[in-house]
Amino acid sequence: MSNNSNKKLLPGLEAIETASIDEIRSLQLSRLRKTLEHAYNNSPVYRNKFDQAGVHPDDLKDLSDLAKFPFTSKADLRDNYPFGMFALPQKDIVRIHASSGTTGKPTVVGYSKNDISIWSDVVARSIYAAGGRPEDKVHISYGYGLFTGGLGAHYGAERLGCTVIPMSGGQTEKQVQLIKDFDPDIIMVTPSYMLNIADEMEREDIDPHKCSLRVGIFGAEPWTNAMRQDIEQRLNIDAVDIYGLSEVMGPGVAQECVEAKDGPIIWEDHFYPEIIDPKTGEVLPDGEEGELVFTSLTKEAMPVIRYRTRDLTRLLPGTSRSMRRMDKITGRSDDMLIIRGVNVFPTQIEEQICNIEELTPHYMIEVNKTGNMDTVRVSVESGLSNSTELNQQLASSLRHKIKSYIGISASIDIVEPGELPRSEGKAKRVIDNR
Ligand code: DLL
Repeated sequence: MSNNSNKKLLPGLEAIETASIDEIRSLQLSRLRKTLEHAYNNSPVYRNKFDQAGVHPDDLKDLSDLAKFPFTSKADLRDNYPFGMFALPQKDIVRIHASSGTTGKPTVVGYSKNDISIWSDVVARSIYAAGGRPEDKVHISYGYGLFTGGLGAHYGAERLGCTVIPMSGGQTEKQVQLIKDFDPDIIMVTPSYMLNIADEMEREDIDPHKCSLRVGIFGAEPWTNAMRQDIEQRLNIDAVDIYGLSEVMGPGVAQECVEAKDGPIIWEDHFYPEIIDPKTGEVLPDGEEGELVFTSLTKEAMPVIRYRTRDLTRLLPGTSRSMRRMDKITGRSDDMLIIRGVNVFPTQIEEQICNIEELTPHYMIEVNKTGNMDTVRVSVESGLSNSTELNQQLASSLRHKIKSYIGISASIDIVEPGELPRSEGKAKRVIDNR
């Protein structure tokens, strides 16, 4: 299909979204060259890394030459805490964000004025792909502050021309009140917090199905297609996936479009993806599952070269846009549980829970070591008022599904609605006591 006919089919898209693959690759190559030069010339950390690996920006003749360059990891950011990774003088940095790691120091990222502008553009493009339009009201419940979620979503929604309701995370009753009073069309929030907001609506006798929301743009944590169905039915909305990470930019590195809902489209004009074998570091062909690695193509303040995200997925060909998609994230390599030798992701357990209608997607996984044995306990809230007999049936049905689909034995605790801790941002699903 020629670009022109494509553009006619998809009004409102930027030309690059439907450009030919050749055009996209050639743009990527020229931007990648500039990024490598910028990193080498302006960041002592990258200059050292390149020198040690015996590579120079001039070695990049083709996109595949990127594989010669060294990876960057969270450890590089920690070792150069707080501002050592920046490639611009502090006077040109207009914003700092940070993500709190589970241990030690946070990872700090910086943005130039132009970085913020490009970030706003990709989030605006993301909201548009999700079905948002300038006339929409967007309720933002991602946390504002050092986390990139709130402000990233905010600038993008404003850039698109939407009316922004900067609610931030928490204060669940107020979230419900504002949704009731302001009639937003779109909500941007973690999927786990969306569930809590829906629960609060029900507690107040408000039918979530009848609320004004049309689209939910959910991300910042893994969630399954089974969870998508649950949320869509419960709130009568389209639920689409937004992906991103602070080290690479924040939300809006990739966005699923509402018309296909077939995995986030990577905005490849700004972020170059690779999939590698997490053990060997070897680049894998498209379609194969491995660890997602990103190189920024336009960032000034803190370019990232081959940043290892730890997120596991695969690259898929473009469908509604020319750019490649990523499959829904199975999990992070750090979140993978090894239970008696079997690799298990919390999302696999979530999928089984969502397949049982009487159970809610509020769950926790606890792993212990009893003697030499790993034991797993899954606590799930039932959607119905508790009856011992029904709970036993539900527990047995979930135990059976987990055993037959995932291959591990788990003990199941069906608990009262509201008993498990609620997240106001990213949900913590796993307690590993081993
Ligand atoms: O979570 C940025 C973000 C905010 C994305 C709001 C989407 C919406 P970090 O706190 O640095 O940044 O965490 C990044 O979260 O490496 C993934 O492991 C996970 N993650 C983000 N989006 C998704 C998603 C933000 N759609 C880390 N699906 C990433 C699965 C996601 N995991």
